Amino acid sequence: MFLPPTFLSKMEKLLPKDEIEDLKTAIDTHLRKSIRVNTLRGEIKEVKESLINQGFTLENMPWYKYGFFISNDKKLRIGNTFEHYLGKIYVQEASSMLPVIALDPKEDDFILDLAAAPGSKTTQLAMHMNNTGLIVANEPQIQRISALQENIDRSGCINYIITRNDGRKFSQFKDMFDKVLLDAPCSGEGTFQKDIKARYIWSQNKVIQDSRLQKQLIESAIIACKPGGTIIYSTCTLSPEEDEEIIDYALNKYNNIKLGKITFDGLQTSSGNIEYNGKEYNKEIKKVIKVWPHKAKIEGFFIAKIIKK
Ligand SMILES: C[S@@+](CC[C@H](N)C(=O)[O-])C[C@H]1O[C@@H](n2cnc3c(N)ncnc32)[C@H](O)[C@@H]1O
Repeated sequence: MFLPPTFLSKMEKLLPKDEIEDLKTAIDTHLRKSIRVNTLRGEIKEVKESLINQGFTLENMPWYKYGFFISNDKKLRIGNTFEHYLGKIYVQEASSMLPVIALDPKEDDFILDLAAAPGSKTTQLAMHMNNTGLIVANEPQIQRISALQENIDRSGCINYIITRNDGRKFSQFKDMFDKVLLDAPCSGEGTFQKDIKARYIWSQNKVIQDSRLQKQLIESAIIACKPGGTIIYSTCTLSPEEDEEIIDYALNKYNNIKLGKITFDGLQTSSGNIEYNGKEYNKEIKKVIKVWPHKAKIEGFFIAKIIKK
């Protein structure tokens, strides 16, 4: 199956030779479907029982009690179940659940979700906050806001407002939010596994373009976060220009931030690369997490936890 040659040659700089074939195989392997039980609408036990009765097999993610890998032999579509229509479950990639777990939202938090649509993580935040506190769910693209609103409504979230701004503008709200989630727009290399089209539209130019925007967005996120607060930066891509380089840029520019450790029990993750293409990054970057599809058996992802001093 096709993979962009430039992408592959970049991966060869990041992984030992023998892992490149494993990575290619993983990208060409069918991705396990997964759901999150939404406790704003249903109970884990009741939802599990009902889905099992309909013929689904559920396997709990060891690192997240609300997350399940799901399959069935009858080709039933999980999106056609009542549980989905009633918002008792949210169909969400296993990797996509990780940033919110790392942010650790609490009741009564004031949280900025800087790039929110279609709302997988906004609805997950609301669930962890038990519909208390407030989430500012921001999305600049009007055509993506309807999906965000729809998912929020279906999931029964009431502790939110939606804003439509360029995320870079949030730098005007200095020291305001307890926590900030920046699930950044990216080149989507992690989605190559389920989205063949993404492999054809990928380009190194897009990576560079995204990297420029991500640096501006992370500045906005850092400024808008309160001292003592936490910022999660995540992407569903593997290129260091959009991952480690963004964190390196932030660490070099702001002396009031440090990185926090992230762990997910039972998930095989790797630490960030501190060298790439002749560049040396800040050693702190070892604390960020890279989710490689061939090791973790879920979509490729990147997560960094920044603590504002
Ligand atoms: C990876 S997606 C977010 C996915 C979302 N967090 C979720 O879990 O469902 C990135 C989003 O960033 C938005 N975006 C693009 N440019 C942006 C900007 N300048 N400021 C804020 N968001 C932006 C995109 O429209 C897209 O919806």
